[in-house]
Amino acid sequence: MAVATHRLDYLSDVLDEIRQQGLYRDLRVLQGEQEAVASFDGREVINLSSNNYLGLTTHPKLRRAAVEAVEKFGVGSGAVRTIAGTMALHEELEERLAAFKHTEAALTFQSGFTANVGAISALLAPEDVVISDELNHASLIDGMRLTKAARKIYKHKDMDSLEAALRESGDFRHRIVATDGVFSMDGDIAPLPQIVELCERYDAVCYVDDAHASGVLGQNGRGTVSHFGLDGRVDVQIGTLSKAIGVMGGYVASTRNMRNLLIHRARPFLFSTSQPPAVTAACIAAIDVLETEPELIERLWDNTRYFKQGLESLGYDTGTSETPITPVIIGEAKPTMEFSDRLFERGVFAQGIGYPTVARDRGRVRTIVTAAHTQDQLARALEVFEAVGREMGII
Ligand SMILES: Cc1ncc(COP(=O)(O)O)c(C=O)c1O
Repeated sequence: MAVATHRLDYLSDVLDEIRQQGLYRDLRVLQGEQEAVASFDGREVINLSSNNYLGLTTHPKLRRAAVEAVEKFGVGSGAVRTIAGTMALHEELEERLAAFKHTEAALTFQSGFTANVGAISALLAPEDVVISDELNHASLIDGMRLTKAARKIYKHKDMDSLEAALRESGDFRHRIVATDGVFSMDGDIAPLPQIVELCERYDAVCYVDDAHASGVLGQNGRGTVSHFGLDGRVDVQIGTLSKAIGVMGGYVASTRNMRNLLIHRARPFLFSTSQPPAVTAACIAAIDVLETEPELIERLWDNTRYFKQGLESLGYDTGTSETPITPVIIGEAKPTMEFSDRLFERGVFAQGIGYPTVARDRGRVRTIVTAAHTQDQLARALEVFEAVGREMGII
């Protein structure tokens, strides 16, 4: 049957508008493995665009665990967790995650995105209020939009603004303060000790999305709570299994009650099929690696310091970054995308990011170094940043 394409013709106008803003992108296609030097669109490039912080996407222990799980358990779980899709592997991973995060319990989701959407929307009722940092991740924002709870946004990392919102929130039944642990576009770290103190003073639940901190910050990569020595004082920690862990999925680490509530109320958990066994087994192997190979995290931080310093000494604006995520801020979307394209042509892949992901005048290429990069590769990438920056008059 012919498709009635004319009814979707208006989409061309929407796409034209995206093109006019300089934000239209074709997807870059990876040939082969997600590594420090990888092949995208047929070109070998130094890869500064993945979240594969520790190089675990190709770690032999994770590969082996995944292959063995396929052979033993097949390729799919066949159902949602609440019907027939809970496998012993899921529960094993959850016990490992709870022990790793020093929490009573953990529950896994299909992604970090669904963990946030599920947890925030399950926690909040119309009588509650969520108080959220203005730069929180889209998955937190979408979770909030799914609830009928009141919403207050505080200025990025501004504790006066947070306190003012808490002071105005005394009449709500429950208050929840939500923050990213590491902010994904700027690479800065939330002031968690002060947030925790304010939550304690105003009797608010403290909710931290640690997607970019797990595997990166804290003892063995336990995240921002460990980094700041705040064990037992943060109520809900979200993690992803898709970034430093190198696989796919997300989790909520919290109390046993929270876990039980999510099993009954978190819609992505209730209405979407659970992780396949290979994925879960590889995640368990990743926790083994975090616990036994701390040198990977040391290498990640050595590389981070080296590269960040290199960009700064070239004269680039790297914003407020404190982690392996280092933005190079260019400004408007068009020159940002051109900068990214020119880097790519010369063998460096650093994705350009523009509005609405970041403010209109804060377009940037976002760089992420990993433990798997060699300093030679990073030195080469810095040479390319220098050449392109001079060519375009940015530095
Ligand atoms: C802060 C933050 N939270 C959650 C997510 C979602 O994680 P996932 O990719 O596992 O869905 C991301 C990933 O982009 C993120 O940056």
